[in-house]
Amino acid sequence: MNQATAIAHANLAFVKYWGKKDPVLNLPANNSISMNLSAAYTTTTVVFANDLLDDEVQLDGEDADQKFADRVGRHLDRIRQYAGVYTRARVETRNTFPASAGIASSASGFAALTLAAVAALGMELSERELSILARQGSGSACRSIPDGFVEWRTGATNRDSYAESIAPAEHWDLLDVAVIVADQPKGVSSSLGHRLAPDSPFWAMRQAQLPERLEQVRRAIHERDFVTFGQEIETEALSLHAIMLTSAHEVAGSWRSGIYYWLPDTLELLIAVQNWRADGIPVYFTLDAGPTVHLLCPAERGEQVQEAVWLTQGRRNWSMIVSLPAVGARLGGATI
Ligand code: DP6
Repeated sequence: MNQATAIAHANLAFVKYWGKKDPVLNLPANNSISMNLSAAYTTTTVVFANDLLDDEVQLDGEDADQKFADRVGRHLDRIRQYAGVYTRARVETRNTFPASAGIASSASGFAALTLAAVAALGMELSERELSILARQGSGSACRSIPDGFVEWRTGATNRDSYAESIAPAEHWDLLDVAVIVADQPKGVSSSLGHRLAPDSPFWAMRQAQLPERLEQVRRAIHERDFVTFGQEIETEALSLHAIMLTSAHEVAGSWRSGIYYWLPDTLELLIAVQNWRADGIPVYFTLDAGPTVHLLCPAERGEQVQEAVWLTQGRRNWSMIVSLPAVGARLGGATI
């Protein structure tokens, strides 16, 4: 049977991937560390069929837009080349979370697509080989292949840039409350952000700090040291946004001094987090390339954190996605 279904969770980076050594292979400028998110996942079915003249891609029950379909097609080409076949495929993919939620659907999407396509072609690849393939679809997708808490080591070549688990999902009951303050797509793509990053005047400083930060975050996860973990990830998120805010570029011929992924509500939440902590709630934030704020807390404090968010929200229309650490990509799930 030339068909398989796979599930992969989105992941949240605690130490971020921002800037590439090789933009074709997605070799990152630095290691990154993440956690798979239980409530945010993609289910993808791939069917290879001889009667198809072209790949067909459906996203959440509808024909995918051309840009997404082309990106999926290019990834299938990589996998076909690996397998030595030419057969076209039908791809059906569904996310449990909206694309505009500020949770990267490309990570879970390309991880699920890789595993489903590889299995549909009858190949049995190691976790490392799957991670290497997924990385070429979208860098952060390589981190959605292994279980739980994951580190992606930079590597120097295609063969040695992949992610591995540093602790299983059940190692630590850490809760992520993703607060979605706006449901609009981001203004600047992360691929442009990756390209601009090395031109920031703060780039060299960030790169110099990262080995120590990686060491601290790795150790804090192993020892479940929430305070060190929280302080490091908050500092890291602001270091990432310092690069973004100083990534000058032009949009339609008009100069911009930097990329502003935050909205006023984002900043309001970041300030609120400092106050909640002063009031005794153990919670820290991180942010990616968008206005969504991720709040990390021990699982038993999750309700308290969500209550604090509701109170701050007032009459605005925020929503939350609450996740624990999750396993890596796996075969199965309902065929769509
Ligand atoms: C800010 O993995 O989306 O979320 O490799 O170009 O597909 P491509 O980039 P992508 O970048 C993710 C950037 C980030 C940080 C992170 O997840 O580490």
